Amino acid sequence: MTRDATEPAGRLIEVSGAVVRARCGVPVALAEVVWVGDERLIGEVIALDGDIATMQVYEETEGLCVGAPIAASGGPLSVTLGPGLLGSVFDGVQRPLDRLALSQGDFLGRGQHLEPLATDRLWEFRPTAAAGSTVVGGDALGTVSETPALEHHVLVPPMVGGTLVDVVPQGSYSASDVLGHVQAASGDRVDVRLVQRWRVRAPRPFRHHLPATTPLLTGQRVLDTFFPLACGSAAGMPGGFGTGKTVMQHQLCRWAQADVIVFVGCGERGNELTEMLWKLPDLVDPRSGRPLAERTILIANTSNMPVPAREASIYTGVTIAEYYRDMGYHVLLLADSTSRWAEALREISGRLGEIPAEEGYPSYLSSRLAAFYERAGRVVTLGGREGSVSIISAISPAGGDLTEPVTRHTQRFTGCFWTLDKKLAEARVFPAVSVEDSYSTVSIDLERWWHDEVSPEWAARRREALKLLEHAGQLRNTARLVGEETLPDRQRLVIRVAELFEEGFLRQSAYDVKDASCSPARQMRLLSLLLEFYHRGLDALDRGVPVRELFGLPIVAALARASSAFGDDQIAELDRLGTVLVEQCGAAARSEPDAA
Ligand SMILES: Nc1ncnc2c1ncn2[C@@H]1O[C@H](COP(=O)(O)OP(=O)(O)O)[C@@H](O)[C@H]1O
Ligand SMILES: [Mg+2]
Repeated sequence: MTRDATEPAGRLIEVSGAVVRARCGVPVALAEVVWVGDERLIGEVIALDGDIATMQVYEETEGLCVGAPIAASGGPLSVTLGPGLLGSVFDGVQRPLDRLALSQGDFLGRGQHLEPLATDRLWEFRPTAAAGSTVVGGDALGTVSETPALEHHVLVPPMVGGTLVDVVPQGSYSASDVLGHVQAASGDRVDVRLVQRWRVRAPRPFRHHLPATTPLLTGQRVLDTFFPLACGSAAGMPGGFGTGKTVMQHQLCRWAQADVIVFVGCGERGNELTEMLWKLPDLVDPRSGRPLAERTILIANTSNMPVPAREASIYTGVTIAEYYRDMGYHVLLLADSTSRWAEALREISGRLGEIPAEEGYPSYLSSRLAAFYERAGRVVTLGGREGSVSIISAISPAGGDLTEPVTRHTQRFTGCFWTLDKKLAEARVFPAVSVEDSYSTVSIDLERWWHDEVSPEWAARRREALKLLEHAGQLRNTARLVGEETLPDRQRLVIRVAELFEEGFLRQSAYDVKDASCSPARQMRLLSLLLEFYHRGLDALDRGVPVRELFGLPIVAALARASSAFGDDQIAELDRLGTVLVEQCGAAARSEPDAA
C-alpha cells in the first residue's frame, strides 16, 4: 500500500522543536513515516486528531515553516535487514552515518537519504534451499559470507510461506536483487530478496521461548560468578557519572560470549562515541584475532543529535538484534544509556502537552521499558534454530538516586541488576560493581551449566563467598562503631578475607592484558583459592595463630596478585599457589605453642 511519495499529504501548521503538526488532506496512519518540508526530513506520526497529525521529526527542524508540505510514505518506521549490517554505523533511524560522512564530510546535511545498506555492493550468494520445496518464514534460502566472522543466512521473511517456486543459482547479487519466489497456498506470489524490511516497533516473531539455562559469559568475574546473566535475559546497570558504565560496556563488547554485538550509543556525549568509532576498526576480536568490527553494529545517537532519533534508536537496535537471532546467532545488545532514551521520551511527551507522571516522565514510561526488555529472549526461531537476544543497558540516574523511575522500572523487567558504586569508583576499585546492591535472579538456573561445564562445586562456593562478603559488610559497620580491634579474631578474619576478595577477585582492570577477561575455569580456581585460604585461616586461628600473623604470610600478597599475575592459560600456576597456601598456613599453625 505504498502511496505516491511525491503527493503532499498535508501542510505544516505548527513547529515546536522536534514535534510538528500538520493539517492533512489525505488520511495518514498513526506510526506512519512522513517526509517533512521541502528538504524531506524524516518524521513519524505520533498522534492524530481529526485531520491534524502530530509528528516527531528525526532531523533538526530549524528553518521549517508553517505551510511547508508533508509527504506520507505509506508505511511505519522500518529497518532494512540484510548483509552489510555488520561493521556499519547507523543513526537511530538507520541512516548510514559512516557512508553519509564519506559522501558529505563530518557534518551531516539534513534530508540526506542514503539506503541503509549500499545497493551497489555485490554479495556472493550460495543457495541451500531447492526449488519445489515447501518453505516457511524463517527458513534459509541460502547463505552469504557477510564477514569472515559470520555466515549470513538469507531468510524467508516472517509471515511468508508456501512452495519455493525458484531460487537463483550461486552468484553475485546486490541488495535489491530478488533471489527467489514463494507461492503461497492463497495463490499470492512473494519475492524473496537479499534484504528485507521490518517495522522497528514490532518484535520479530519466533516459535517459542527456551528457558534461560546457559550463561552469557562476560569475562568479568564479579558478573559471571556472583551476578550472572543468562543467554537471552536482560540486565540493568545503574551508576552515577564516572562509575565505569561506558568502560564496562566496551569491555562487554569485546569479551562477552556473543556472536554479534549491537551497540546503541544513546544520548551520551558525542566525543565518547567518536572515540569508540575511531577505536573500533583497530580493536581485535579476541575470538578470532580479526577486527572486532566484523561482528559489531553501532547505532549512534549522541547528545548533540536530534532527540526523536534517540527515542527510535533502541528499537532499531533490537530489531537488528532479532534479525541475527533469527539466523541462529546469540546476539548481545548494549545500550548506553537508557536514561538518555527516557529523557528523549520525556521531552517529546512534554512537547505533546501530555500530562506528566513521575518526575515528568510520561505515564507510559514503564510499558515502553517493558516492551523493550521483553524483546530479549532465547528462542526457537521460525526456521527451527536456536538463537538469542540478550540486553544490557546502562542507566545513569541523576545524583545516583536508584529510586528514580527509569532505574526502578528497569529493575522490574530485568533479571540482573549490576549497581555501580560511586565510592568504589572513587577508590579506583574497578569494575565498581557493588556486591550489596547487585543481584541476579537467574543464578539458580545456571547452576547446572556451571556444574557440568566447570565444577560441581560452583554453586556452593559462590554462595559461601557471597555470604562471607555480606557478613564482612555487617561486621565493618560494627567495627566502625566499636573499633576493629575489639572484634573477636574470627570476625576480624572475615573482614580481612573479604578485603582479599576485593583485591584478588572483584577487582579486574579493563586495561590489564592478562586479566581484562577471565575464563570460567580461572574464575572458579581463584574463588576456590580464596575460600581455601579462609578455611585454612579458620583452622590456624583455632590453633592460636593471630590474624595479624596469618596476614603476614607471603601467600597473602600472592593471592592478592594472582588474578593479574596468571592468565587463563596459567591455571597450573594457580594450582601451585594452592599447594603453597596449604604449606604456609600449616607451618604457621604448627609453629604456634598451642598447636601441639
Ligand atoms: N573496568 C575498569 N577498569 C579500569 N578502569 C576503569 C574501569 N571502569 C572505569 N574505569 C575508569 O573510570 C573512568 C570513567 O569510566 P566511564 O566508563 O567513562 O564512566 P561512566 O560511563 O559511568 O560515566 C574511565 O575513564 C577509567 O579511567
Ligand atoms: Mg559513560
